[in-house]
Amino acid sequence: MKIGVFGLGYVGCVSAACFCELGHEVWGVDVDPVKVDFIRKGQSPIIEKEMPELIAKHEKAGHLHATSSAEEAVTQTDLSLICVGTPSLESGALDTQYVKRVAAQIGQALKKISKSHTIVVRSTLLPGTTRTQLLPILEAESGKKEGAGFSLAYNPEFLREGSAVRDFYEPPKTVVGALREEAAREVARIYQDIPGPVFLTAIEEAEMVKYADNSFHALKVVFANEIGAVAKKLGVDSHRVMEIFAQDTKLNLSPYYLKPGFAFGGSCLPKDVRALTARARELNVAVPMLSSLMTSNREHVHRAVKAILDRKKKKVGILGLAFKAGTDDLRESPMVELVETLIGKGYQIKIYDKNVSLARLRGANRVFIERTLPHLAELLCETAQEILDHSEVIVVANSDPDYLPILAEVRDEQVVFDLVRIVRELPVKKENYDGFCW
Ligand SMILES: NC(=O)c1ccc[n+]([C@@H]2O[C@H](COP(=O)([O-])OP(=O)(O)OC[C@H]3O[C@@H](n4cnc5c(N)ncnc54)[C@H](O)[C@@H]3O)[C@@H](O)[C@H]2O)c1
Repeated sequence: MKIGVFGLGYVGCVSAACFCELGHEVWGVDVDPVKVDFIRKGQSPIIEKEMPELIAKHEKAGHLHATSSAEEAVTQTDLSLICVGTPSLESGALDTQYVKRVAAQIGQALKKISKSHTIVVRSTLLPGTTRTQLLPILEAESGKKEGAGFSLAYNPEFLREGSAVRDFYEPPKTVVGALREEAAREVARIYQDIPGPVFLTAIEEAEMVKYADNSFHALKVVFANEIGAVAKKLGVDSHRVMEIFAQDTKLNLSPYYLKPGFAFGGSCLPKDVRALTARARELNVAVPMLSSLMTSNREHVHRAVKAILDRKKKKVGILGLAFKAGTDDLRESPMVELVETLIGKGYQIKIYDKNVSLARLRGANRVFIERTLPHLAELLCETAQEILDHSEVIVVANSDPDYLPILAEVRDEQVVFDLVRIVRELPVKKENYDGFCW
C-alpha cells in the first residue's frame, strides 16, 4: 500500500519507518524542512532505538520519501495518517490547530484526485473532535462526502518513547473507530500482520480509549508514589509491597472495579482509605490523590441524587440497599446516603433488598442503620412487586439478577434508573431506561 504520514515527530517517524518495514511505500510530510531533510538524507529526525537503521534502510531502498507538500503525499498515496502534535493551550485545553490545518490541506488535495482516499487520525484528540471539527473541514475543502470520495477513521497510538519500534510491532491493542464499520474494517487491514486484539468502535470511543489509558497510567504512577511515600515513612519496603500488589490479578490488576457504576462503600474501603490518609497526615506526608478518593466518591453519590431529583418524580423505588449484591451489610452503603437525601427532600421512598430484613440485622450493621435511617422499617418492602406498584422511578442499586423479572414488567410511564448496569441488555424499552454513567 502507499501511505502518507503527516507529521514526522515521534509517532509519525516510527509509523513511517515501521510501515516501510511491513512492505508499504511511505511519503512522510512535515512543515519543518529540517525533518524533511533528515529523512531525505536517510537519517532519523528523532532519537529512538532502531530508528536510524530503519530510516537509512528504507530511504536507500526507495520505500521512504519525504516532502513538505501535502498535495504530493495525497496524490501519491491511498491512505493518509495524521500524526501531528496536539499540545496543551495555556488554559490546559487541547490545541487542535495543527490537526485542523492538516485536515484542510488533505481536503484541498482530495479535490484534485478522483480515486478514493482514506484518512486515519492518530494524533490524540478529545472525543468528538474528529467528527465535529475535522470531518466538516475535510468535506468543505474537498467538496466530497465521507463515504463517497474519502473515508475517515480514528486510530489511537499506544507507543512509548524509548521502546516505540517494539511497541509498534507488539501493541497492547489496535483500536480503530470510524463513522462506518466498513471504513474501520478497511483501516484495520493495514495492521493485519500485527499481533494483539483489534477493536472496531465508534469514532468517539476510539478517541476516549486513549484518554482512559493515559489517565489510568498517570493514576498508577501517582498511586504507587503516594503508597511509597507513606510506606517509606513507616519503614516499610514499598517495592516489596507493590510487587505483591501487582501479583494479585484477581482484584488489583484486573477488570474488577473498573466498570463505571455507583460509588464504593461497605465496611472496608471507606474505613481503610480514611485510616491510611489520616496516618499520612500524622506523618506529614501529603497524599492528595489518596485524600481525594472519599471526596470523589461523595461527589459521585451527589451526581446520582441530582440525576434522580432532575426527573422531578417523587415516588422512587429502590432495588438494593446494601453496598453490593449478596450481602445485607448496610454500613457505609452509598445507597443509604442517597435514600437519606431523597427523604430529606420530601421524596416518597420504598426499598426492596432481598437480603435486608430489619429483624435479621445485627451488631454494627444494626447500629449504623438505626443511626442513619431510623425509619427504615416504614420504607422496606417485603416484595419487589411493591416497588413496581409504588414507583415513578425505579432505581437499580445492586446487580442481583433476581431483580430482572421485575424490570421486565416496567410500565410505560415508569423509568428505570440503573446505577450498576445490572445487565447489558435490560428487558426494558430504551425510552424507559437510563444508565448512570454509560
Ligand atoms: N510521543 C508519544 O509517545 C505519543 C504516543 C501516543 C500518541 N501521541 C500523540 O501523537 C501526536 C503526535 O505526537 P508526537 O510526539 O509525534 O508529536 P511531535 O510534536 O513530536 O511531532 C509533530 C510533528 O508534526 C509536524 N506538523 C505540524 N503541523 C504540520 C502540518 N500541517 N503538516 C505536516 N506536519 C506538521 C511538526 O512539525 C512535528 O514535526 C500527538 O497528538 C500525541 O499526543 C504521542
